[in-house]
Amino acid sequence: MTPEEITAREQIVIAGAALTARGLAHGTAGNISIRLDDGILVTPTNSSLGTLDAARLTKLDFNGTYVSGDLPSKEGFMHLASYQRRPQDSAVVHLHCSHSVAVSSLADIDADNPIPPITPYFVMRVGKVQMLPYFRPGDRALADAIASVDPARHAVLLANHGPVVSGHSLNNSIAAIEELEETAKLFLLLGGRAVRTLNADQLADLAHHFPS
Ligand code: 13P
Repeated sequence: MTPEEITAREQIVIAGAALTARGLAHGTAGNISIRLDDGILVTPTNSSLGTLDAARLTKLDFNGTYVSGDLPSKEGFMHLASYQRRPQDSAVVHLHCSHSVAVSSLADIDADNPIPPITPYFVMRVGKVQMLPYFRPGDRALADAIASVDPARHAVLLANHGPVVSGHSLNNSIAAIEELEETAKLFLLLGGRAVRTLNADQLADLAHHFPS
């Protein structure tokens, strides 16, 4: 096993424990992956992110063929589709974190922009979110839908399900999905009242100073 793969396994275990400690992962919900040179490492299906075992993480090749470890997450194909869509990214995190799921369950939400640009950190870490319709967890059609999202967006919200966020590194993906969850919470706190979102000049200023 390469040193890169050993490190990636450790990073996934640490991330799963941290996300659980922060209340962002519960039960056996959610999955995490890291891209390697010869495939991906992904959390096994039905595992609790808080108690992962580095030696039992699943390895898949880039076609989704099983290589080693426990049975893969049923969302393994969703992770592979995320890497195909954004080859610059090397980690994907999917959670069922409560506030994001709540927003994803609102009936009259704009799928093209489900959470408005309320704060600079939401704009800098997450950007524009794409919401997708409901799919059964593990449905291969979900992977196809992820593949079709604008590659400029790295945060996707699955209706009645939760967010899927990719990033250049696992730390980036986690920072982004945590920012998304906190902004979803703010959005719900605002409760449909008129919100002063960042204006076009403020968004351009952020893009200039913090290019993605
Ligand atoms: P897995 O246990 O198969 O990873 O599925 C969990 C999940 O979050 C489904 O969306």
